[in-house]
Amino acid sequence: MNERRTRPRSLSARAATSVRFAALAATLAAAAGCGGPPQSALDVEQPEGWDDELQMREAEDVNPDPSVVEIELEAKITDIELVPGAPTPVWTYNGVLPGPLIRAKVGDSIVVRFKNSLPEATSIHWHGLRLPNDMDGVPGLTQDPIPPGGEFVYEFKARDAGTYWYHPHVNSAAQVGWGLYGSIVVEDPADPEVFGDELVLVLSDMGVDENGQFLPEDTGGEFGDLFGREGNLLLVNGKILPRLKARAGKPQRWRVINAARARYYTLRLPEHTFVKLGGDNGLAERSQELGRVVLVPGERADLVFTPSDEPGTVSVLQWIPTERGFGSVYNRPREDMLEIETVDAAPVVPEPVPEFLREIEPIDITNAEELTLDLTIATETRMHEKEVVMGINDVPYWDSEPLEAAVGQTHVWNITNDTAFAHPFHLHGYFFQVLDDTRIPEWKDTVDVPANSTLRIAVDFDERPGVWMYHCHILDHADSGMMGHLFVAGEGFEKMPKVHLMH
Ligand code: C2O
Ligand code: CU
Repeated sequence: MNERRTRPRSLSARAATSVRFAALAATLAAAAGCGGPPQSALDVEQPEGWDDELQMREAEDVNPDPSVVEIELEAKITDIELVPGAPTPVWTYNGVLPGPLIRAKVGDSIVVRFKNSLPEATSIHWHGLRLPNDMDGVPGLTQDPIPPGGEFVYEFKARDAGTYWYHPHVNSAAQVGWGLYGSIVVEDPADPEVFGDELVLVLSDMGVDENGQFLPEDTGGEFGDLFGREGNLLLVNGKILPRLKARAGKPQRWRVINAARARYYTLRLPEHTFVKLGGDNGLAERSQELGRVVLVPGERADLVFTPSDEPGTVSVLQWIPTERGFGSVYNRPREDMLEIETVDAAPVVPEPVPEFLREIEPIDITNAEELTLDLTIATETRMHEKEVVMGINDVPYWDSEPLEAAVGQTHVWNITNDTAFAHPFHLHGYFFQVLDDTRIPEWKDTVDVPANSTLRIAVDFDERPGVWMYHCHILDHADSGMMGHLFVAGEGFEKMPKVHLMH
């Protein structure tokens, strides 16, 4: 069954309006023939049950204090039916995939009472949040691993509006690949209504066979490590090809998270563009219209989607192969991710999204320390077996010495990648800015470093001393050694603490 229909373009409408609303203008013009003037998008609601198939369980706040979000989280294996009739023993938080959505307002305290009911040790890292070092969830560096049956209480403040996520930092490629991830939204009550109704989309994939069993975590051996393992099932909020409802002209605000262990996502919706508001750490300086949106593992995108299809049609959001090195694009088909049904209701007129969103003050780099971090891949022979060893400046994580910084310092890191693969670089604990005038200024914690390129980032170690990780967020690469740690000296951290770098 192919419900996708192509709509004839109206050339005059396209010429008369910005690309953003050309398609919609045509739909509106057609609708105006039958009845009065179209309504404003602000005067109508989303279609009934618009996000029913995409709703994720929200973490239940057990604390009556309105400024404290206190939740219970238990990691456990739960059978979930992804392959019809053949349940998969998914590694979950609270039995759901993805884990519960944690929602807070800027300034709230978040308390997570965590219990590990998995058969192996784990931890939770709060990806992107600026929190105290001992809450960062990195065993060997900031806490002990949480053994089976163990508990840990995480407590920190939601300081910055944005879209974040959480996942383990132990045996990460496997544990994340088996389902351990969940989303965090820190709301800014000042966000304008024109951004649309919010929908959180957690993108991930899973390697599962026809009996619902996980493929071995080392599928593909050395090549699997090199390429990064992409699962065969594409999941949106834990579902295969779910359906979303929309109304022509009525904007939706999509907070998209790439929680896959290795897969890059390039998103495309035929005949549509998206307006990107920002990504990792809240709003960018300016909004930007994009035909395709790329998310590398760990990265987020905050998008306004304004449906412009004719009422009563279904189109499909597609995954497009992204060039990230050998074998990533050639001969790989597009895949369908999410069906979007434009309901049979008169199109409405959206209010424009402002171009200027907020000021992003550039980090002052006049006295910055300059460092070079080279992302490296080597093959080594160990016990007569060839093994891929990845590293930073040729040193795998387990042999690495910390980079050194101190509170009050600013660094500029030149991240070079001469390998044949792209690497999504992630820094814990601090937001950074990419030094590149062609980009719209924004705060980031995860950024792509394409093959054979160099990227410059500026980081201000303004507070929160401790030991922080940085690594490639293709988790197979991280587990193969492409990680490092950073010591930020300061009060309470006068000298580098003893750490246990885990292999
Ligand atoms: Cu989301 Cu150390 O990572
Ligand atoms: Cu990598």
